[in-house]
Amino acid sequence: MRADSGDGHPVLTVEDLTVVYEVETPVTAVKEASFTLAAGEILGLAGESGCGKTTLAYAINRLHKPPARIASGRISFHDRDGEDIDLLGLDEKRLRAFRWSQLSMVFQGAMNALNPVLNIRAQLEDVLIEHDPGLSRAERRARAADVLRRVGVDPLRLVSYPHELSGGMRQRVMIAMAMILQPQVMIMDEPTTALDVVVQRDILREIVRLRDELGFAVIFITHDLPLLLEISDRIAVMLRGEIIELGTADEVYRNPRHDYTRRLLGSFPSLSGSRGSFIRTGVEEEA
Ligand SMILES: Nc1ncnc2c1ncn2[C@@H]1O[C@H](COP(=O)(O)OP(=O)(O)O)[C@@H](O)[C@H]1O
Ligand SMILES: [Mg+2]
Repeated sequence: MRADSGDGHPVLTVEDLTVVYEVETPVTAVKEASFTLAAGEILGLAGESGCGKTTLAYAINRLHKPPARIASGRISFHDRDGEDIDLLGLDEKRLRAFRWSQLSMVFQGAMNALNPVLNIRAQLEDVLIEHDPGLSRAERRARAADVLRRVGVDPLRLVSYPHELSGGMRQRVMIAMAMILQPQVMIMDEPTTALDVVVQRDILREIVRLRDELGFAVIFITHDLPLLLEISDRIAVMLRGEIIELGTADEVYRNPRHDYTRRLLGSFPSLSGSRGSFIRTGVEEEA
């Protein structure tokens, strides 16, 4: 099995990561997980509820809190200057600078995490003020408008408050916020699960398009494996804390190695006979 998807050099390497919830009967939520994320690739992480996906995502971001503890393993980030950053060795200050600017996360249910008393512009600009204090007010405004446009929200919405936006729009705003500092990696944990199917598809299509345009890498997490097949370059399947399957989306679709993967695939409505036809239409068209 190849460690990366091909041409892209690795941006993130996770090795033998084990995360334990130190409760009365300790729960090993992530067991010796290893994978590499290549620059610009979309890696789908699938598995049923409770298998450890969110725990893994939080640990990579070092956002896990007690009782969760990283029991062992290594996480390295390979930045644009070719420097390797040992994520488990960063102190809080360097970690804060690192998050958002190099690695950002869209949380499960993030659309409800917007501040209800600030308009969208203020929330986007806050990220810039914190991480890029040298920007002028005009530059900040331009960046906020630009990133909103990129995720398909009219910049007129900058002056809107969260309650004035639909769920889909709020989720797009969260994605805009995660993108605004142009990180190399975005982790998206069930970003569209709460949305209806049509809105979900629109947003997924947008994420693939933005990746094609801007070249960031994505770890896209969902319990919905068929959906992942449509947008991912490679797919990892988790079962009870372990990555039991890792391969290109085509390999996983055509030749799953595990019965469990086969079961997750079982619900795939084969409308066209080929994977990815819905979302990738138009994206992969030959010039
Ligand atoms: N705070 C906690 N204390 C103890 N166990 C937890 C805690 N949070 C999550 N877990 C356990 O860790 C496992 C993985 O959970 P989670 O990472 O949320 O899975 P997923 O995101 O795949 O649904 C589950 O068995 C869950 O019960
Ligand atoms: Mg989860």
